[in-house]
Amino acid sequence: MAGKRKRVVKETKSKKSPLKKSMNICSKHIFSKPSISQIRKELLSWYDANQRDLPWRTIAASEVDPNVRGYAVWVSEVMLQQTQVATVIPYFNKWIKTWPTIQTLAAADLEDVYKVWAGLGYYSRARRLHEGAKFLVTKMSGTMPQEVEDLSKNIPGIGPYSASAIASVAFQKVVGVVDGNVIRVLSRMREVGADSSHSNVRNHLWSLANELVSDTRPGDFNQALMELGATVCTPQNPKCSECAVRSSCAAYSKVRTDTDIGALDSFLKKNGKKKSKSCSDVEECHLCLPDHLWKSNPQVTVFPVKAPKKKPREERVMVLVIDRENRFLLIRRPEEGLLAGLWEFPKIILTGDKDVNDSQDVLLNELTIEQSSVISRKHVAEVSHIFSHIRTTYVVEHIQVAPSLVVEDLECPTSWWNASEVRTAAVSTAVKKILDSVEKLLRTDHPKKDSKA
Ligand code: ADE
Repeated sequence: MAGKRKRVVKETKSKKSPLKKSMNICSKHIFSKPSISQIRKELLSWYDANQRDLPWRTIAASEVDPNVRGYAVWVSEVMLQQTQVATVIPYFNKWIKTWPTIQTLAAADLEDVYKVWAGLGYYSRARRLHEGAKFLVTKMSGTMPQEVEDLSKNIPGIGPYSASAIASVAFQKVVGVVDGNVIRVLSRMREVGADSSHSNVRNHLWSLANELVSDTRPGDFNQALMELGATVCTPQNPKCSECAVRSSCAAYSKVRTDTDIGALDSFLKKNGKKKSKSCSDVEECHLCLPDHLWKSNPQVTVFPVKAPKKKPREERVMVLVIDRENRFLLIRRPEEGLLAGLWEFPKIILTGDKDVNDSQDVLLNELTIEQSSVISRKHVAEVSHIFSHIRTTYVVEHIQVAPSLVVEDLECPTSWWNASEVRTAAVSTAVKKILDSVEKLLRTDHPKKDSKA
């Protein structure tokens, strides 16, 4: 590649966020000292004028008891991990009303915890909050640590992100945070065009966040960065013209420079002159965007770069929706492991050589349901659902059983619920999808008598 060699900075282990391996990186991937103070000022002014009024922010700003502040921020951060702010607000309010302290949460029954969480999805988050509260009460006399290291080292369910968010927002510790929104904002601001899921790249983003965070208002600064990512610097169609920090954004300036160079090149071409020189020489840099990616999408949205997702593993599972007078049999999963403690329809994995009818009989037998209790069997549908790295096809079968049927004690608890009870119980999205398919079938088989044609 021709052109001038750029200044290359050898990144070394930093005290705040050590990098495991040092990388060769261009200076453009680092904030200059003057730009750091400018970004802090601009971002905090924007936040002061635009921040959303959120219940956990009120608690973090006004509650005098540090334990309650830390607990409220912790709950909010866990709820916000996979859910939009607007959805989280009523759940957060109900949660804090039900369990206002770590102690009250620790004393709660997991079943009740799941009930209050119902509808938010990803129930393991609720279980980990509950485990974390029990740990704090039994092992740390109910006191929330305030330092990042103590938060992330010991407490179940609190990782580096939550620890930094709690420490900065609730306790004003000067530490940066890196979540999905921050990855996007920082990658764009510093043109980080390497795979953002790679540990070296992630470490670099943590270093940037730790350098940038305001030393006077760290909690507000971190929330401002996350809020900017959620509302302005969005994955698609970012509102760059409204962005408070666009003057320090390398991606924004790259788009404009590129447009200018493009216009200059067509002007030069029209006038029979040579193309302008490219200013990019990124051969040795571990963080620069590969040229071909920029050419395929020369916009700020090309950042951050993510490695393509691996194809999910496929599996087929047969589900029996056992219907006793419009109440369905559900089984509670074990307290440990995937989807721990959630309710689900009885199921069996279908392997290549097994016939669906044979598998039905095996499962009915496991459930202690005798053939004489089965009134009818009907295939409902195939329902597809992706969870984590597995794409499951549920082969859904409706089995109507005699009103007198009683299921004997199994290893896991069982319960008979009607459709609306299933919907509000601690069940996964897959269970709701399966229920939808059954209700659709039941509606077509037995249309309401009074419904108009
Ligand atoms: N996303 C996660 N936590 C947040 C917070 N405290 N403020 C804004 N967005 C967030």
